Amino acid sequence: MILNRWYKITAIFLVVFAFCLLQIGTGFAKIGGGDILFSDTKGMKNVTFSHKIHVTDQEKKCPDCHVKIFKMKKGSTDKDNALTMKSINEGKFCGTCHGEKKIAFSPKGSCNKCHNTAK
Ligand code: HEC
Ligand code: HEC
Ligand code: HEC
Repeated sequence: MILNRWYKITAIFLVVFAFCLLQIGTGFAKIGGGDILFSDTKGMKNVTFSHKIHVTDQEKKCPDCHVKIFKMKKGSTDKDNALTMKSINEGKFCGTCHGEKKIAFSPKGSCNKCHNTAK
């Protein structure tokens, strides 16, 4: 009887342990919100926003963008069609950082740096 109980405790422990490993694994695989696809691009190729490039490579912190510039929800920015080249060029959304005399490359003349994802 005693032995039986230890089998059960060990089994439960192993299940919990495996679950924790899985959580850690998926956590490392995806940084922040992962890759975000923007597909309302008319005749241009789609745009992929990479959390990995911005957070890991460029060392941006979550509060640099959330929630001042972007809500933490895919599709929220372009609700009511607010996310356009016009609003970006006016310095909103991606244009908070991407523009002339800003910290990241300007949209002008570098269209395919962002519009590089096949439809
Ligand atoms: C350079 C800006 C930027 C930074 C820094 C950033 N994010 Fe994001 N995040 C975005 C954008 C853009 C979206 C997509 C918004 C949209 O689709 O309208 C997004 C979306 C998300 C989402 C929603 C994903 C989904 O599928 O709905 C989560 C979660 C998220 N971010 C978490 C984080 C966390 C955690 C960090 C810090 C480790 C972080 N982000 C840093 C720009 C950023
Ligand atoms: C910093 C990244 C970035 C650069 C650089 C960029 N775009 Fe965009 N573009 C976007 C995003 C993000 C959207 C919005 C997509 C969405 O809402 O799904 C967009 C949307 C568009 C659209 C759809 C209609 C509209 O006006 O919103 C067109 C057309 C477009 N871009 C053309 C261009 C051209 C031409 C250039 C170069 C002169 C350019 N883009 C450079 C990110 C960029
Ligand atoms: C908080 C500032 C910030 C915001 C907001 C931001 N970026 Fe960036 N982004 C950067 C910086 C900094 C770099 C690296 C410097 C450079 O390439 O000029 C960068 C680089 C990039 C790159 C180049 C990746 C490569 O191939 O090296 C792309 C593409 C890009 N951003 C797209 C976007 C799009 C699309 C948005 C809006 C959805 C956005 N960024 C919003 C700061 C930002």
